[in-house]
Amino acid sequence: MLTEDRVRSILNKMVDPFLHKTLEETNGIQEIKVKEDKQHVSVKIAIAKTGTPEQMQLQGTIVQALKGAGADSVGLRFTDLPAEELAKFATADTQGNKSLLSPGSKTTFIAIASGKGGVGKSTVSVNLAVALARLGKKVGIIDADIYGFSVPDMMGITKRPVVRGEMIIPVERFGVKVISMGFFVEDNAPVIWRGPMLGKMLHNFFNDVEWGDLDYLLLDLPPGTGDVALDIHTMLPACKEVIVTTPHPTAAFVAARAGAMALRTEHEVLGVIENMSYFESKVTGEKEYVFGKGGGTKLAEELQTELLGQLPLQQPDWNDDDFAPSIYAEDHRLGKLYLEIAEKITTLIHKK
Ligand SMILES: Nc1ncnc2c1ncn2[C@@H]1O[C@H](COP(=O)(O)OP(=O)(O)OP(=O)(O)O)[C@@H](O)[C@H]1O
Ligand SMILES: [Mg+2]
Repeated sequence: MLTEDRVRSILNKMVDPFLHKTLEETNGIQEIKVKEDKQHVSVKIAIAKTGTPEQMQLQGTIVQALKGAGADSVGLRFTDLPAEELAKFATADTQGNKSLLSPGSKTTFIAIASGKGGVGKSTVSVNLAVALARLGKKVGIIDADIYGFSVPDMMGITKRPVVRGEMIIPVERFGVKVISMGFFVEDNAPVIWRGPMLGKMLHNFFNDVEWGDLDYLLLDLPPGTGDVALDIHTMLPACKEVIVTTPHPTAAFVAARAGAMALRTEHEVLGVIENMSYFESKVTGEKEYVFGKGGGTKLAEELQTELLGQLPLQQPDWNDDDFAPSIYAEDHRLGKLYLEIAEKITTLIHKK
């Protein structure tokens, strides 16, 4: 039998999507009625902003939870939290985005860098983001490769972000919030901008996007040590870096320049990921070191950091129903390796 108390205890745990506080904390439960004979529950909930996609989402969650607890039908009304309640949380809410860049921010920024192009930065960025989300973290990714954006296609994103008021709501895929220049370009047209615009765009990605609470924000950098990398260094003084290299000793040499720059700007290098380390024959299990050997270890030594992992050559298994060409499934050999790397990274960050 569903009682009013039981309904209240369920609702108390629900979270206001804008204030990121439970309804118990926001005094958001305004009315509960239970018709016991029919198990019909009707509730009135106050949240910070009504008529939003977030409200729809919360609505779904509440209805599901109440039905799960035995309600036959649920009547749900939403209303705006009264101004005086809202005022109590106003600072938490309005600082939500600013705090992303403020010194006290809880969000760890991780830039994925490399010395040269095509070594797998974007592949590593998207899979690391998905792996961290699979570990239960709140994760966002900025495709900071403004000219050569690739994250939306790699993750199989077909949606565009919604703009609400002045803010852009990032697109969510595999539990990761994504923003990319690709969302704002028509028909794959090339982006032709001069240097200063790049920095401005990046700035917008931080300030005009409603990221909410994030544990990690990953940045997929363009190749090399160019403008964007420099902008990131100045914009995010506490940014950490993961350097991607191929196993060839000269690739590691080039990647060392990206690492050296990180060190000079006092960005902490979390570690090195060696990608395309080897090819393993499915038939014989034999490993062939197609692109040479030792680059990752060498680079890690040079940067006095650790080798976080070595990823073999292999494409994800493509799923036509849910197409995301570059994302490895959780039980894929590489999906598992990415989980291991994600775990190492969270441990490294928590140690600090
Ligand atoms: N471990 C891997 N096994 C097989 N293919 C891979 C692997 N890692 C990356 N690739 C492929 O290599 C190509 C380049 O990867 P990716 O785009 O991630 O590199 P990048 O460093 O981001 O490139 P750019 O410098 O152009 O941004 C892609 O086609 C990707 O699918
Ligand atoms: Mg890339």
